[in-house]
Amino acid sequence: MDHFLYRDGELHAEDVPVAEIAAEVGTPFYCYSTATLTRHFRLFDEALEGMPHLVCYAMKAASNQAILKTLAGLGAGMDVVSGGEYLRARAAGVPGEKIVFSGVGKTREEMRIALEGGVRQFNVESEPEMAALSEVAVSLGVEVPITVRVNPDVDARTHAKIATGKSENKFGIPIARAREVYAEAARLPGLKVIGIDVHIGSQLTDLEPFRMAYEKVAELTEVLRADGHEISRLDLGGGLGIPYERSNAAPPLPTDYGALIRETVGHLGCEVEIEPGRLVAGNAGILVSKVIYVKSGEGRDFLILDGAMNDLIRPAMYDAYHDIVPVREPAPGVEPAKYDIVGPVCESGDTFAKERVMPAVGEGDLVAFRSAGAYGAVMSSEYNTRPLVPEVLVHEHQFAVIRPRPTFDEMINRDTIPAWL
Ligand code: LLP
Repeated sequence: MDHFLYRDGELHAEDVPVAEIAAEVGTPFYCYSTATLTRHFRLFDEALEGMPHLVCYAMKAASNQAILKTLAGLGAGMDVVSGGEYLRARAAGVPGEKIVFSGVGKTREEMRIALEGGVRQFNVESEPEMAALSEVAVSLGVEVPITVRVNPDVDARTHAKIATGKSENKFGIPIARAREVYAEAARLPGLKVIGIDVHIGSQLTDLEPFRMAYEKVAELTEVLRADGHEISRLDLGGGLGIPYERSNAAPPLPTDYGALIRETVGHLGCEVEIEPGRLVAGNAGILVSKVIYVKSGEGRDFLILDGAMNDLIRPAMYDAYHDIVPVREPAPGVEPAKYDIVGPVCESGDTFAKERVMPAVGEGDLVAFRSAGAYGAVMSSEYNTRPLVPEVLVHEHQFAVIRPRPTFDEMINRDTIPAWL
């Protein structure tokens, strides 16, 4: 459920007509709903009620300061994967003790930033990284709580580019080697083993892969405890999918996911962390774009939008489906049209949808890409010297620009010319 609904013939973001924002901000732009962000975060928080837990929002999904502040105000922790994300979370007011540091290749400099600023735990992904973290912690005179990310060799049944839990993926240490690696962790100075971490992929639409992974983690918890390790915290990662295509069966809900967590690891007495990103932010954001031209091609019509692959790369990168709807509600019974929906960037990959059936629209009309809140703005670029797409946050009847569109001068003047030119 989201808060982008037609009202009086116009798509609204909460109580604000989307067309009103477009008139003020220009297109394209991302628009987020505070109410949807809040609702989705709370669904996870409530799904784990009664268990000691922390929902650490995977801020890579959408990391605008205003979004982080909204979620932090609800009690969210953050899952960060770079020094930049760590500092961004801190700047939004998230305390260090609510920040989990994940990622497959943390540098010593990134470790230092988080250790100096304070961190809840590091999720370590390899032995060399563990040795580096130990060195940095010792040099700063601190002891850092760690989990080790295990790779359970489970097929997440998702797009290959976002599956992370198979042995051929670069993530974590093979679960079969966990005892050895934990023994090494216990020997190294500056590290304090506190738990286990797992994350098997993103946009999972089935609970079975989670079940397989979490059962393996539960088993490993007992084994490591018998070896004398303190395992008091389980970081179960993120990955629960969202319904991009309304005609498909709806993926499981956070309540179902919470029930599965209780069932698989609830008996262990551990504090549980989860790291949802997409389900918190995905349906809380739309990308609004304007039709520049409708062009008749050979046996097809192209809808040419002012938004492009640099603004939303998911269709080009993962063949992702995004629902695209007119901002003005189509009259009942109006004949649908069929379009190839594209942006103006100079490559054929700049295609959002092929042969998409949708209500007919014309030049100057606004359209909205649904479910674009996660991995949308954060993956945007200025390719083709197109200004970085702005972001807007709505709260009831108010809206605010939370990242302005840069001017062409700002973009051009970011470059510097060497003395010899
Ligand atoms: N935790 C870790 C360690 C992760 O690597 C990720 C996502 C998450 C949590 C959050 O997963 P989520 O709940 O959002 O599924 N750009 C891609 C998605 C990449 C996901 C990367 N890791 C896309 O647009 O589909």
